[in-house]
Amino acid sequence: MSRPLISRRADSLSGSAKVPGDKSISHRALMFGALAVGESRVEGLLEGDDVLRTAAAMRALGAEVERLDDGSWRLWGRGVGGLREPDDLLDLGNSGTGARLMMGLVATHPFTTFFTGDASLRSRPMKRVSEPLSRMGARFVTREGGRLPAALVGTDKPVPITYELPVASAQVKSAILLAGLNTPGETTVIEREATRDHTELMLRNFGATVTVEPREDGARRITVTGFPELTGRHVVVPADPSSAAFPAVAALLVPRSEIRLAGIGMNPLRTGLFRTLAEMGADIGYENPRTEGGEQVADLVVRSSVLSGIDVPAERAPSMIDEYPILAVAAAFAGGTTRMFGLSELRVKESDRFAATLLGLQACGVKAEAEGDTLIVHGTGRPPAGGATIAVDLDHRIAMSFLVLGMASAEPVAVDDAEAVDTSFPGFVDLMNGLGARISTP
Ligand code: S3P
Repeated sequence: MSRPLISRRADSLSGSAKVPGDKSISHRALMFGALAVGESRVEGLLEGDDVLRTAAAMRALGAEVERLDDGSWRLWGRGVGGLREPDDLLDLGNSGTGARLMMGLVATHPFTTFFTGDASLRSRPMKRVSEPLSRMGARFVTREGGRLPAALVGTDKPVPITYELPVASAQVKSAILLAGLNTPGETTVIEREATRDHTELMLRNFGATVTVEPREDGARRITVTGFPELTGRHVVVPADPSSAAFPAVAALLVPRSEIRLAGIGMNPLRTGLFRTLAEMGADIGYENPRTEGGEQVADLVVRSSVLSGIDVPAERAPSMIDEYPILAVAAAFAGGTTRMFGLSELRVKESDRFAATLLGLQACGVKAEAEGDTLIVHGTGRPPAGGATIAVDLDHRIAMSFLVLGMASAEPVAVDDAEAVDTSFPGFVDLMNGLGARISTP
């Protein structure tokens, strides 16, 4: 059953809010805890559908995974190489991260795993992981175009590889490094553009040897040594900067607003949006910078701001790949033109986000266009008309982005189905309405 919502113009946003735990880090905490010997504890876990699917999958692979309290979880791992064959297929729901990282995990275990997901995940490209994992010895049977459902026959004679990523993708990088854990020798991934490094940071924290060597041409060589003894850890998950992006941009756009978002992850490979918004003139303060569980965090104070259009370089895309829809919404309110370069990867996310963002903005009366992989938004410095109903197409970030647009546009904005929001941001509507937004059922 679909869950339509409508977002009406808000007077102002104010107060403090705690956004949920980081999705990327939550998936990894469960996976690495399941591989470590002994007990791991996780605090602040994102309890969205994507991550709950990963928890269920790790259980099916033999780990003990127990929810103790809100966001507080206990795991008892199997040790590297100790996963066992799941007796049913793994359904990763909407989650590309869950599916792709898990493929890496089981690729070097000698058993067969069947993968599936929702209509969105079943339409996403998996060749980007099956290709390098096949070189390590795994075998795949997929639907046409490398799509799920797929069967993965893991290998008992894994071969270490050195692999240069053809696309900037932390999921592909992570899948190969995770397969490398149960592989003799050294498995190396070369990335030309740095992508989020939560796998490297957390694997090291669990006891693996992971080296990162910058190359002269700016690329990085990331190497994991096989058969590490991973031991149980205590992981504190910071609040997700990709989720904080929605209330933050809302506070910039709604007049007379000032909000505080506590404990937001500030990993420099994730903060491209905040850098871009600062260049556009956003008033965002960073208070109490600190390190929690090996990740940088800070409290954000965001005030209504007059924004100007800018050029966003393609090199920045990996550090803000999930944030372009909400950046495009901010650009729709800015004075002048914003050009976002190098967005090819946006077409293969939970939906074709490039098309969904462009069409949604146009439906809301914003002048926007595409030139190849560049998204161009012409802001007038005044609120756009709004007044549209946006087709979400199982994409949580499209739903939240357009609900934010409706908080400050002339006419309300509706989304046809906000069910997908729960994959990454359970409680989004209550949190936003608690700050002063007016989101309701139509
Ligand atoms: C993620 C990597 C990114 C991002 C996704 C989470 C991760 O995907 O879009 O939401 O946790 O590694 P790609 O690796 O496909 O760029």
